[in-house]
Amino acid sequence: MALGEEFLSELRMRTDIENLISSYVVLKRRGKTLVGLCPFHNEKTPSFTVYPESQSFYCFGCGSGGDAVTFLRKIENLDYIDAIKALADKVGMTMPDEGGYDKTISDKRRRILEANRAAARYFHSCLMAPEGREALEYLLRRGLTKKTIASFGLGFAPNSWHSLIDHMRSLGFTRQELVSANLANESIKNDRKNVYDNFRNRLMFPVIDIRGNVVAFGGRVLDDSKPKYINTSDTLVYKKGQGIFALNLAKNGNSERKLILAEGYMDVIALHQAGFTNAVACLGTALTKEQAGIIARYADEVILSYDNDGAGQAAANRAIQIFSKTGIKIRVLSLSGGKDPDEIIKNHGPERFRALLQGAANDTEYKILKARNKYDVSTDDGKVSFLNEATDVLSFISNSIEREVYASRLSGELNISKEAILREAERKYKANRRKSEKAQFRQIQRDSQPSNDPVNPDRAKSPLGAKAEDVLLATIMKNPDFLEKIDDIQPEEFITSFNARVFAFLRDRIKQNLPLDLSYFSGSFTPEEMGRIALLQTMSFTVSNTVAECSDCIKTIRREKANMIKVDPAGASDEEFLKLFQNKTKDT
Ligand code: GTP
Ligand code: MN
Repeated sequence: MALGEEFLSELRMRTDIENLISSYVVLKRRGKTLVGLCPFHNEKTPSFTVYPESQSFYCFGCGSGGDAVTFLRKIENLDYIDAIKALADKVGMTMPDEGGYDKTISDKRRRILEANRAAARYFHSCLMAPEGREALEYLLRRGLTKKTIASFGLGFAPNSWHSLIDHMRSLGFTRQELVSANLANESIKNDRKNVYDNFRNRLMFPVIDIRGNVVAFGGRVLDDSKPKYINTSDTLVYKKGQGIFALNLAKNGNSERKLILAEGYMDVIALHQAGFTNAVACLGTALTKEQAGIIARYADEVILSYDNDGAGQAAANRAIQIFSKTGIKIRVLSLSGGKDPDEIIKNHGPERFRALLQGAANDTEYKILKARNKYDVSTDDGKVSFLNEATDVLSFISNSIEREVYASRLSGELNISKEAILREAERKYKANRRKSEKAQFRQIQRDSQPSNDPVNPDRAKSPLGAKAEDVLLATIMKNPDFLEKIDDIQPEEFITSFNARVFAFLRDRIKQNLPLDLSYFSGSFTPEEMGRIALLQTMSFTVSNTVAECSDCIKTIRREKANMIKVDPAGASDEEFLKLFQNKTKDT
């Protein structure tokens, strides 16, 4: 363990996991525990459980679990040290100076962020300098004001292979740092390494995260050449599919907890300038689950405002599907008066866009409308087909009053009894629910299958032995004093290497009389592994917690291990081989 025990135990004491998690998940008290919808997988019934007593959490649906640090790592996508820092920050502690922990990764990240910030400043100054005149004129021609340009920190990357590199080198950044920030690229030619600016002759859009860090850039050409955009590829501070453009601004311009999601950087900037300060965009790619998750954290409602061409509508449909799993309210704007928000505002002014916002059909209306357009509802056939699809749509609404409202509307429109429509919708609704419950159950079964356990792949070698190890570990976690009372089992005797590691870790701490709370594991195990350790901890509530049970487990582990040798004589040592032979003769 790299960080001091004292520091960690103080941090643990000051942290309240219930408080931490409830800023991300709506928790309901259930006895000694709290439950909510798991933020790490999609579920409709809560299987995410928080244990204030042990300061841990575990999800029975997806198997994620751990301590407060693990939770922060997973939800904010942080490495261990950064999660500790964030947590320390929250509870008002400062990190120990001489920690002696491996700072290299967080140092590298810090350097990349510094480089990005310096580069953003440089690009902006180029835009304002004579060499950026053409780019600046382009932006002004597209209707952006200087104020908007400054508040988004827009810039210009000169048409040169090394102007940024030269500038950054003069500030003390190394070539390697620039490459790892993806501000520069590397090529090898005739055995010589060549480093050159990644962004050349492009308008630069810095992507700033909610903490105010410049994490990436988008660079747009000034003409029709291709590719239209170059975006920062994955670095230590940025992963494609995770960034959201302008969220740093929109999270403040969003008192109603509604976000407008547009397709392009330019749309977002035009929207902000027109007063819609709650607009954001995804970067470069179609919406990902991660991005939808982030948006759902800052908003209760998302308004999709995608281009009204085929590609935009297809993207909107995909986005609806992704958002529908987050539980956030979705509205889809059907844009008219221009192909995208930027054009609509430019052609007709902000008022036109505001009207669209006010009349935007919600997700359900949008889907019903689409279904209606497919059929000729003046014929009986068309009516039946349309109603069939419409009740499909209604069957996904969990609120029965809402279902009733739409059923009434359809009933009036098609002259079919409301009860018949509702009955059909309800039947499908129940079928859906059964289906999703079954799927959830199958998933849990699949996850606990020995053959595909990614955390502990050795489980397949002997499910029975692995189970015995689990029970042994769970019992020792709850009753550290048992360790002295049971047979002296060694980590090497374990069948699965994961459990062996957990055991070694536990044993070392018990011998040193150190506490065993989950929070002390998170420096040595990955978030996925923490899930398993949290599961072991929850198991300790259901096992018998006796020394006798430990002894039984040890017997089982040893027996199973001996049996395993039978299976693979080729890999057995001489001694094992002999044992194999003895076993055989005994058996026969
Ligand atoms: P304008 O056409 O100037 O209004 O730009 P825009 O930002 O609205 O771009 P557009 O509507 O063409 O594309 C929407 C978004 O898709 C952009 O903001 C980019 O994030 C992304 N995008 C567009 N073209 C490319 C490309 O060539 N490469 C990558 N990686 N992303 C692109
Ligand atoms: Mn556009």
